[in-house]
Amino acid sequence: MKKDTLLARAGRDPARHQGMVNTPVFRTSTVIFPDRASYEARGGDDYKKVRYGLYGTPTTFALEEAVAQMEGGHAAVALPSGLAALAVALWAFLKTGDHVLLPDSVYAPTRNFCDRRLQPNGIEIEYYDPLIGAGFEKLLRPNTRAVFCEAPGSLSFEMQDIPAIAAAAHARGLPVLADTTWGTPYFFRSFEKGVDVSIHAATKYIAGHSDVVMGMIVTNERHWLTVRRAVADYGYGVSPDDCYLTLRGFRTIGVRMNQQMANALKVARWLQSRREVKRVIYPALEGDPGTPCGSAISPARRPFFRSCWPRVTGTRRRSSMRSSFSASARAGAASRASRSSRRSRPTARRRSGIRAAPPSGCTSASRIRTTSSPTSSAALPPCKKRDP
Ligand SMILES: Cc1ncc(COP(=O)(O)O)c(C=O)c1O
Repeated sequence: MKKDTLLARAGRDPARHQGMVNTPVFRTSTVIFPDRASYEARGGDDYKKVRYGLYGTPTTFALEEAVAQMEGGHAAVALPSGLAALAVALWAFLKTGDHVLLPDSVYAPTRNFCDRRLQPNGIEIEYYDPLIGAGFEKLLRPNTRAVFCEAPGSLSFEMQDIPAIAAAAHARGLPVLADTTWGTPYFFRSFEKGVDVSIHAATKYIAGHSDVVMGMIVTNERHWLTVRRAVADYGYGVSPDDCYLTLRGFRTIGVRMNQQMANALKVARWLQSRREVKRVIYPALEGDPGTPCGSAISPARRPFFRSCWPRVTGTRRRSSMRSSFSASARAGAASRASRSSRRSRPTARRRSGIRAAPPSGCTSASRIRTTSSPTSSAALPPCKKRDP
């Protein structure tokens, strides 16, 4: 089935709801069964059947099923926020004495959670260069229990080589967790790239209308119960009204993302033509280290990156996995950082509208802070750690 057809159909079962196209909002806490036999006759995965409001109603299940199907996962669970989803997913796989690897470009509140909650509980946290790719296995320790990815990375938008990282992790039997908020279940087929546990701030592109806060964790079959039980153990549940809104928003993710992609590219290219902007760091732009022609990606891995980017309007363009706001915010940061050197730049290229390759030697790896490769960039300031 084509993904846009799937978007229209997934999570719908009118026959079970008196012909209603959308699964209605079911509000409940207690659920009454006539007898034990009928409770047990529900069969199957206990977390996908109605038993108590906290564990979901048909409204929750409709959303979870739609997102899991779109992304190609086994099952999904909804949580009250993206950050809650990230925290529970990490807790589900880690305990005292374990070691976990996260990219240095990880979403700052995820980093806060690791530094403030996991680390004081005796879990070793290590941040790696998000563009490491080959050689990742050297970072694995005997007590490593999980590998975390985020692509594109928060704010600095490094495109990680997830298949290479996943291959190294899987060779050691380790689960790969990924924050795929920017990629979305619509554009990024996480499980085909080696992700085992995909985590979303559904607050963003999935819900899509700035009227709900929601997290989702999608897993493969192997890790489903580990994650779902952790969510139950922490007592997380979501409002059926929020699930209804999120699913309503999700139905239009295709048209929204495609339009946003086109808009963001226009804005990014316009920013590139501005004299006050030194460089736009945006994986969808030709020449960015996150693109298949980017300098940070080995030729052997380029087919993978190419497969991540759908085509647009005839010519081979790469999709935007980020908003135009982010493009301009990043460009603004680059601009502020480079204002002092502005006068020495030639002007011809600025006005030409032709996209320039990144300055030689300026790869994504050189513009981030990392514990594993502590390089710094003269071109851009290091990413600032937010502390909300
Ligand atoms: C990449 C990423 N992950 C997770 C989150 C957290 O989502 P929420 O705001 O729903 O907690 C965000 C929010 O901005 C995000 O950008």
